Amino acid sequence: MSQPPRRLNDLLADYFEDLNLAGITEFPPIPGSVQNGAGRQQSGENPLPSAPNAGIPSPAPASSASPSMKKFPDDQLEPILARVKPALSLRAKEAILRDMAQVVAGCKLCPDLVANRTQTVFGVGNPNAELVFVGEGPGADEDAQGIPFVGRSGQLLTDIIVKGMKMSRDEVYICNIVRCRPPGNRNPSDQEAACCRPFLEGTLRVISPQYICCLGAVAARNLLGTDLAIGKLRGKVHDYRGAKVVCTYHPAYLLRNPPAKVQTWEDIKMLLRQMGRM
Ligand code: URA
Ligand code: URA
Repeated sequence: MSQPPRRLNDLLADYFEDLNLAGITEFPPIPGSVQNGAGRQQSGENPLPSAPNAGIPSPAPASSASPSMKKFPDDQLEPILARVKPALSLRAKEAILRDMAQVVAGCKLCPDLVANRTQTVFGVGNPNAELVFVGEGPGADEDAQGIPFVGRSGQLLTDIIVKGMKMSRDEVYICNIVRCRPPGNRNPSDQEAACCRPFLEGTLRVISPQYICCLGAVAARNLLGTDLAIGKLRGKVHDYRGAKVVCTYHPAYLLRNPPAKVQTWEDIKMLLRQMGRM
């Protein structure tokens, strides 16, 4: 292999960040395995050994290069989005979001997601929210209940909102990059994220929040259209169509790596300062 694609480097950067934050800086030797790259191990340049490739998803083909790229039919969504105007009433926004949710419920674009979902998970919260949280995709609990962030990660997000931010879940809006559960909680593919993009953009157009908080690398990269690692994206205020965007670690990551909660709290404080709530 010559130059690996950049996406793979970013996946590995995240993977190493996960491991480092979890205090893992060495892999145990694999019994019976042939030791490769001994020279590099001795050079002391890289405290982390070369990662095994097993379990790391290979990057999806670049969207522009894929002739089979599917797209949600405009004629179903456009008439709904045409109703988005400045200064909509709460009821009008509720109605538009409900109609969009109904369209998503009938979406059959992503075969692997459609085959495995119980139901679609559109979003929950206040259509007039100042702040929208964007996660990655529904997990098992969300797939069962049809509501985002209701499982263990959801409980941690609720704690962040209620205990940390002194707000309620009803004040904010919560949605995901993709609206169907990726089986086995794998990351959504680029193609799946692209198929669901009109719904994410539509949701944000209706709510028109001033602030967006991206939870984890998948949310941050997809919303902002970047390949940067989450560690590079957090700690700064980004822009999405005039909304201020703060990125932090995903609650599922925080459950696996509790020490990273310190950084997330820094990110949340930055968000609260931006919102004039701190
Ligand atoms: N993780 C997510 O990214 N979204 C959810 O809705 C639940 C867990
Ligand atoms: N890697 C991710 O993909 N997400 C996180 O939140 C942290 C590390």
